[in-house]
Amino acid sequence: MTMNRSITLTLASLLLAATIAGCKKDDEDPVPAPPSPAPTPTLYQRLGGTTMVNDPANPGQMIEQGYLGLRSVVDSTIFVIAGDAQLQPYFAVLLAEVGAGDLTGFAALSESLTEFFAVATGAQNFTYDGLNMVDAHNSANPRMTGLVDDAAFDRFIVDLVEGAAQNDVPAAIVTDIGALVETLRDPIVQQ
Ligand code: HEM
Repeated sequence: MTMNRSITLTLASLLLAATIAGCKKDDEDPVPAPPSPAPTPTLYQRLGGTTMVNDPANPGQMIEQGYLGLRSVVDSTIFVIAGDAQLQPYFAVLLAEVGAGDLTGFAALSESLTEFFAVATGAQNFTYDGLNMVDAHNSANPRMTGLVDDAAFDRFIVDLVEGAAQNDVPAAIVTDIGALVETLRDPIVQQ
């Protein structure tokens, strides 16, 4: 081996070694990322979410299970309220209609309350286009009689829990719906 060839080889080896060392640094396995925590399911998902099921109220039609669960609770709750002497006075307009066999106001309230709860619990495929919670519960709403006080609000929660129980909603979900409803006390209680 000539001197020149030997120098060339040595340089080449050094270069190779340096390249490998450089690559090694770049190629080092990054610290493995911790597994990302599973996203917390929304209340709507816990109620069945977007899974499509038969709508018992409309044979042949499908409905999101989460929406159906909420609508069932809402409808049961309206019936509980209708039989609740403490809350009946607030719903005088509705109760007079129903007493006369007119269910249009009931259907409209069922839909707006269900859409409200659907959006509030995390539904993506529904919108609420009714009155905001302040106006829904004062004279801006001609269907509302009087103003809600804390006792009436507490009673509404009792009736809602009863409506949920009638539909076998799991206790943990009822607790979380209760917490959600509690966040609405401030705009709704207006006396
Ligand atoms: C968190 C609790 C509540 C929620 C989420 C809620 C929600 C609603 C919604 C979405 C409407 C329909 C608004 C519209 O038509 O644009 C409504 C109407 C009404 N709410 Fe509430 N509400 C709550 C508590 C209460 C309480 C405690 C009372 C009385 C004690 C009450 C009495 C009424 C009445 C009388 C109406 C009109 C019903 C009708 O259309 O015939 N609400 N509420």
